[in-house]
Amino acid sequence: MMKKIMMKNDISENRKISASILSADFSKLSEEIKLLEKASVDYLHLDVMDGSFVPNISFGAKLIKDIRPHTKILFDTHLMISNPEKYIIDFCEAGSDIITIHYESTIHVHRAIDLIKKQNKLAGLAIVPSTPISAIEDLLEEVDLVLIMTVNPGFGGQKFIDSQLKKISTLRNKIDQLGKKIILSVDGGVNSSNAALLFSLGADLLVAGSFIFGGENYHNQVKLLKS
Ligand code: DX5
Ligand code: ZN
Repeated sequence: MMKKIMMKNDISENRKISASILSADFSKLSEEIKLLEKASVDYLHLDVMDGSFVPNISFGAKLIKDIRPHTKILFDTHLMISNPEKYIIDFCEAGSDIITIHYESTIHVHRAIDLIKKQNKLAGLAIVPSTPISAIEDLLEEVDLVLIMTVNPGFGGQKFIDSQLKKISTLRNKIDQLGKKIILSVDGGVNSSNAALLFSLGADLLVAGSFIFGGENYHNQVKLLKS
């Protein structure tokens, strides 16, 4: 399409899959990543949780730095941490390509986005299910990605919250009106029963964890999500 603007590393193509390693076996992470490469996932989704912004703790910048030499897949880091601006530089230096912060995680959202962009990384903004699209409207000009959470953040394997569906089409319209290429990402409870609908409502990128890792063959699982 004429409107499409190619961005760094071809990130503007739609119907992409970001595999959340939260559901991977951490004791053999490099093997898991090799399988994801073979499954042709487009990004690795790295869910960072601090036990404060969300009621769970996952991993930090050290793990991201350690896996960086093992793959060329783009790293899509999702910071579910309070006051992310304190740690943005660490996550950039660890090798993230996209850094997504939560609208609800700091008063200084604009400053945090600015910091990500100053490190020459793509800046994403996420919203939890209780935050409306209208809350982030004035920030759309500033970001490269918006992540709509379709579960309450903190855990993999939760059920998709259907009431979030209308936010996807609302945001799709706003992005199209703006005429700026912003990746519309959806995260939480994504599986083969809802993926086609999510793409048709206007999502460019679907994050999936338990659906991919819960299958015998990751390649088949990713294919099911894309088809
Ligand atoms: C939830 C995380 C998600 C999660 C997705 O807090 O942000 O990325 O890992 O996992 P599934 O696909 O199992 O819902
Ligand atoms: Zn996530």
